[in-house]
Amino acid sequence: MLYGYKKLTAAQAADLVRDGETIGFSGFTPAGAAKAVPTALAARAQQEHAAGRPFKIGVVTGASTGPSLDGALAKAAAIAWRTPYQSNADLRKGINSGAIRFFDMHLSMTPQAVNYGFLGKFQWAIVEAADLTADGEIVPSTSVGASPTFCHVADKIIVELNRQHPKALRGFHDIYEPVNPPHRLPIPIVKPSDRVGTPYIKVDPKKIVGVVETDLPDEVKGFDAADAVTDQIGQNVADFLAAEVQAGRIPREFLPIQSGVGNIANAVLGSLGRHPGIPPFEMFTEVVQDAVIDLMRAGKVKFATGTSLTVSGEKLRELYADLEFFRPRLLLRPQEITNHPELVRRLGIITVNTAIEADLFGNINSTHVMGKNLMNGVGGSGDFTRNGYISIFTCPSVAKGGKISTIVPLVSHADHNEHSVQVLITEQGIADLRCKTPEERAALIIEKCAHPDYRAQLQDYLERYRRVGHVPQSLSAAFAMHERFEAVGDMRGVEWNQFGN
Ligand code: COA
Repeated sequence: MLYGYKKLTAAQAADLVRDGETIGFSGFTPAGAAKAVPTALAARAQQEHAAGRPFKIGVVTGASTGPSLDGALAKAAAIAWRTPYQSNADLRKGINSGAIRFFDMHLSMTPQAVNYGFLGKFQWAIVEAADLTADGEIVPSTSVGASPTFCHVADKIIVELNRQHPKALRGFHDIYEPVNPPHRLPIPIVKPSDRVGTPYIKVDPKKIVGVVETDLPDEVKGFDAADAVTDQIGQNVADFLAAEVQAGRIPREFLPIQSGVGNIANAVLGSLGRHPGIPPFEMFTEVVQDAVIDLMRAGKVKFATGTSLTVSGEKLRELYADLEFFRPRLLLRPQEITNHPELVRRLGIITVNTAIEADLFGNINSTHVMGKNLMNGVGGSGDFTRNGYISIFTCPSVAKGGKISTIVPLVSHADHNEHSVQVLITEQGIADLRCKTPEERAALIIEKCAHPDYRAQLQDYLERYRRVGHVPQSLSAAFAMHERFEAVGDMRGVEWNQFGN
């Protein structure tokens, strides 16, 4: 027994799960993801398949996870369906081949969709914890994600108690769950550091059918070092925001920042930290990445709240060695709260997210390469973009060594539309799209954001279709750059005169 609960090995826990069941796993990025039981479930699936028996489960998490969860289960062909987000190469392959059903969801809406019953019944919640009590207090580890909701809706709970995380993490979480309409109340957060919930997930201890002890590190990959392009994008974001402060459109004390995921987002944060025109700021964001920890040390980030602490092993060790420095500066909340449109709008959050491609009008594709193949998912970008004080998108002006222009006449898949996106920034420059007509937006994006290799081609497009209506657009030519890439492997060299209006 462990805290009064049955002690299980990961294999014993996996044996309790049946084919066709739905599991809500902890994890938001690889941070805080259940690891031992999903790996054991993958082994179980392989045994069942070898014996000619079916074994597939529905997998729901906070967001993406790591190789021990998404990777192992995808390789074992153990996933029937998956939501709301992923970033694993094996899983992506399964999704894009049609072997795994995947539906992309706004991350703020996943917990409520689970609560409303839109995703069906959950038999299991399998969650990683830093600590646990006999009366059902579960202290999450490095992420909260959707775990509180999974624990409440699931019939049964298995806890992975991970010795990698100190029990002193108690106090770094603030668990608040909105009740369902028509009884929902305003979320009482008026500044990023407000605590409105409990420091643990409270469950009925009778639902905890077992505890698996583990000692497995989070599988967070480090970030690529910033290069000249990501550095310049970061510098442009910082210059834009500093100029907005100067112009009085952002208050002098600044506003909370949300910053997306990935290499570019990490580089942007570094630049914000270095810029003399940006005062020390707070973060109200989804994922707390490595750069935030460095900026806290430097006094540039005063406080950060997010739903996951997605930092490299080295940064996490640094943090755990000095927990009391970080305790008043860091707070993890459910994704339903960190990404809540009500809070994003009320707190006046400046949002910075990354695009796969943007079109001449400011529509953004964040998820599907050539409109077809899923990269990761929409994540929280929609939650923030639609409601931000200023919504910024960044991307390099070209991808794949210049063969792809990220600025195209029309996005091949739409995640965020021109009404939500206010500023587009590449390493080439800054296009401030506020209060601009579609034609003005197009001219500005070509001049400020497009790569020089593509400027003339895009300008020709604009000239040719300038007078066709309110939006300079051609139904027959809009995807000619994508089609050319698919035909010859390069978007350059499109002849617009072969197309009509
Ligand atoms: N066409 C084809 N491939 C493209 C492309 C385009 N227009 N734009 C980017 N890519 C490829 C890159 O070449 C790279 O491929 P590789 O992994 O084979 O090298 C990959 O996409 C990632 O691009 P990178 O430039 O390294 O950016 P990133 O790591 O910052 O990730 C996103 C960019 C858009 C994939 C990522 O930010 C994302 O998934 N966003 C959606 C979710 C989100 O915004 N979450 C945050 C909300 S809080």
